[in-house]
Amino acid sequence: MLRSNKSIYAGNMLADYVRTGTYQKAMISNASDFAGKVVLDVGTGSGILSFFALQAGAAKVYAVDASDAVIVARKIAKANGYEDRMEVIKGKIEDIELPEKVDIIISEPIGFLLVHERMLESYVAARDKFLKPGGLMFPTTGSIVLSPFSEDALYREQCAKATFWENTNFYGIDFSCIGEQAYTEYLQQAIVGKCTYEILKLRFYCFMQFRIC
Ligand SMILES: C[S@@+](CC[C@H](N)C(=O)[O-])C[C@H]1O[C@@H](n2cnc3c(N)ncnc32)[C@H](O)[C@@H]1O
Repeated sequence: MLRSNKSIYAGNMLADYVRTGTYQKAMISNASDFAGKVVLDVGTGSGILSFFALQAGAAKVYAVDASDAVIVARKIAKANGYEDRMEVIKGKIEDIELPEKVDIIISEPIGFLLVHERMLESYVAARDKFLKPGGLMFPTTGSIVLSPFSEDALYREQCAKATFWENTNFYGIDFSCIGEQAYTEYLQQAIVGKCTYEILKLRFYCFMQFRIC
């Protein structure tokens, strides 16, 4: 029985074939880096990156996650015959200890706009704590792409939320003094979503690449 439905939500992430396929390709096409090596998977979730490292020939993988997803990762590891080479550990990477340093650290620490989710910090902390000198990190770089756009529907949606604060009689209380502030704050808020290429007003973008570890 699953104790948390978080693992079920992880299905959406796994089904993102660009994301998942890119990680598998990166490891399988660099199998010589993984052959016989000890690997640490930071934030293993369902264990998918650990399985790719094992497919690429890793001798041993420590798969660490702070959530109950470890229950699922353990179950899948066992069902696929990886239980001897994959040790699943529940805990925050900052808090746990490993019996040895590792040759490679793998992780999917990338949030929206690269840094959202604040997981890069944990990835870097894992490097400082567990990576052997000269060890490898997958991934090592990340990119942010920026482009201006305008979408009326989204603008109206945000304004409609702010309209609430124009209420002059909310259970007998006048909120309208907050109205202007609400518009400013709603329209400044970061929104995570998808948009089509067509709504980009200008056909240019700003591309920044960062070394993330
Ligand atoms: C974006 S998910 C990635 C899961 C999996 N690696 C994948 O690619 O499908 C991030 C996972 O990292 C775990 N996590 C986040 N911060 C962590 C930390 N400091 N220590 C251990 N696990 C962490 C979360 O619980 C979550 O399962």
